[in-house]
Amino acid sequence: MSSPTVSSNGYPFTSVQQTSFKVYSPVRGGTERSLPSAAPPRLPFSRITEDDLAFFRQLLPGRAITDPDMLESCNVDWLKSVRGNSEVLLRPRTTEEVSQILKYCNERNLAVSPQGGNTGLVGGSVPVFDEIVLSTALMNQVLAFDSVSGILTCQAGCVLETLSQYLEERDFIMPLDLGAKGSCHIGGNVATNAGGLRLLRYGSLRGTVLGLEVVLADGRVLNCLATLRKDNTGYDLKQLFIGSEGTLGVITAVSILCPRKPKAVNVAFLGCSSFQNLLETFQCCRGMLGEILSAFEFLDASCMGLLEKHLKITNPITECPFYIVIETAGSNAVHDEEKLHNFLEKVMASSLVTDGTVATEDVKIKALWSLRERVTEALTHDGFTYKYDISLPVEKIYQLVTDMREHLGDRAKNVVGYGHVGDGNLHLNITSPTKDPALLAAIEPYVYEWTSGVRGSVSAEHGLGLKKRNYIYYSKPPEAVALMGNIKAMLDPRGILNPYKTLPDNLNLH
Ligand code: FAD
Ligand code: MLT
Ligand code: ZN
Repeated sequence: MSSPTVSSNGYPFTSVQQTSFKVYSPVRGGTERSLPSAAPPRLPFSRITEDDLAFFRQLLPGRAITDPDMLESCNVDWLKSVRGNSEVLLRPRTTEEVSQILKYCNERNLAVSPQGGNTGLVGGSVPVFDEIVLSTALMNQVLAFDSVSGILTCQAGCVLETLSQYLEERDFIMPLDLGAKGSCHIGGNVATNAGGLRLLRYGSLRGTVLGLEVVLADGRVLNCLATLRKDNTGYDLKQLFIGSEGTLGVITAVSILCPRKPKAVNVAFLGCSSFQNLLETFQCCRGMLGEILSAFEFLDASCMGLLEKHLKITNPITECPFYIVIETAGSNAVHDEEKLHNFLEKVMASSLVTDGTVATEDVKIKALWSLRERVTEALTHDGFTYKYDISLPVEKIYQLVTDMREHLGDRAKNVVGYGHVGDGNLHLNITSPTKDPALLAAIEPYVYEWTSGVRGSVSAEHGLGLKKRNYIYYSKPPEAVALMGNIKAMLDPRGILNPYKTLPDNLNLH
């Protein structure tokens, strides 16, 4: 085969390596060339040969893909913002096959990019250069479900929505839900420690994931696939892999604790005239709905504008600066409806909420949820999107949007805010007609400095991937980042697993 050409990846190949543990210098000259999100130079991994392909073809008959058309979609991320140039896509079915692949790649010094549903939003799921794509798409079997404990054990490539359907038929649900459910894999969810729409109620995957099976960089299989609620025998190694974005091992199976399917679900879509009123509504909601509250999400009027303009979705209530989606999930419809009714009466009477609508039937519930879930999709039709996923003290989450609007003036097309109020997680998104390096230079590092100034996190739930790896120092002390580098070096000494992702360039991991 021809020797692979190095991809431009949409980024110039400027090294941003630094030797000291300080925050990367922001912009030199105001172009993207100098930005810390740019791809570093290719590391000295081996290039794939005909012998390598012969090995993979023998191991995975018909599942070692080199057809350029089939490779196209796994080389580009969901946002179409980063592009790799892999020439091989491997589709194992079993843990043993993953183990054989990694053992071989480690010995040959071939870099590997693990991929689930490829819905990640930080450029972590696609190769940067010619890394081999290792897809979990065919690892999609449910291995066991215990209907007494509610513990599901499955392969990493199961699609989240398929698992939800499987469980709903058995009167259970998945403890997480997100807009990308139709494509994302449970292994990808665990690898990113995805948050999503139900975290407020069921907590993070760090609590609900009970066990993992992981293949390490050298092919060893780490079987920590426990199905126990309690297990204090030594260090909890699975936590290392939750949120490690494919840099420490390939997750091949997951066991997860699933809640019972609620008997009654209500969704309210409400409007508020100010963010302060929205926050007071949140406080009141927690007090009055208590244990049945399962989600408290928001979007601003600019998001609603994009839904109407690009997706032709109709606003079901009168226009307001802010909109809230509240979900209740409980076991007694009459009790839940009464609680919700009392809450709504109170917030309307006190003018915290100016208008609203409630749904109890499935179809209408889905329609109200789509107003929140489809903002991401609406943004992709608005031009090039700069995405920020920020954790902040809840009372500050909209201030960043207001300040950013003022800071950018008319340089941006739209500056919008939405997110998970209940988790203190803001999604700040900025659009421009086309990719605009000058605009990016105005946004970064301003957004990160603002965030670290209030002790927030520069990645609440999406991870760091390629795009945000060098911004880690805004949220973690150098000692912690250095320790992460030590862990990476111990588990993946040759650095073959998802290179250029998550950890900053100055750790020099190869
Ligand atoms: P991929 O995108 O394929 O990969 C993501 C990362 O995980 C990569 O670094 C990859 O190398 C690694 N990886 C994947 N599988 C494995 C594995 N088996 N072993 C080791 N590493 C692996 N995220 C949220 O947190 N909350 C949301 O509410 C949310 N909503 C979204 C809505 C939309 C419309 C979209 C497009 C995305 C959304 N996301 C959200 C982001 C994304 O869906 C999540 O990060 C998701 O968990 C990624 O899963 P995936 O299978 O697509 O992983
Ligand atoms: C969401 O909450 O909608 C997701 O995290 C996706 C996004 O940030 O757009
Ligand atoms: Zn989110």
